[in-house]
Amino acid sequence: MGGVHKITVEGAGEAVCSEIERVLVALERAQGFGRLKGLARKLPVGCRRGGCGVCRARILAGEYRLDSMSRAHISEADAAAGLVLSCAIYPLTDLALRLETPQFKRTVLQTAKAS
Ligand code: FES
Repeated sequence: MGGVHKITVEGAGEAVCSEIERVLVALERAQGFGRLKGLARKLPVGCRRGGCGVCRARILAGEYRLDSMSRAHISEADAAAGLVLSCAIYPLTDLALRLETPQFKRTVLQTAKAS
């Protein structure tokens, strides 16, 4: 069994994830236990297999192993800029990430306009 790593979600909180677990699954569990209090809404979850693109995130720090993911949602340029599908990555070290789903971007924009 692989090691366990801390996943820090920018502005939201932390999760723990083993090296054999998809990061999205760890984030869902952490939200269920109230450890991602900074999230204004439920994590968007779709296919859980790298195909629908709703779980986009930007890796800010750390190393990960990548499963297959749709190039329709993460281009090679996106990947080079640190974008991933969180259901298609497994941590190899502690990770820091920013959620980049369309739903969360809208929430951030709406919050910025309201203030
Ligand atoms: S949930 Fe569909 S790509 Fe991650």
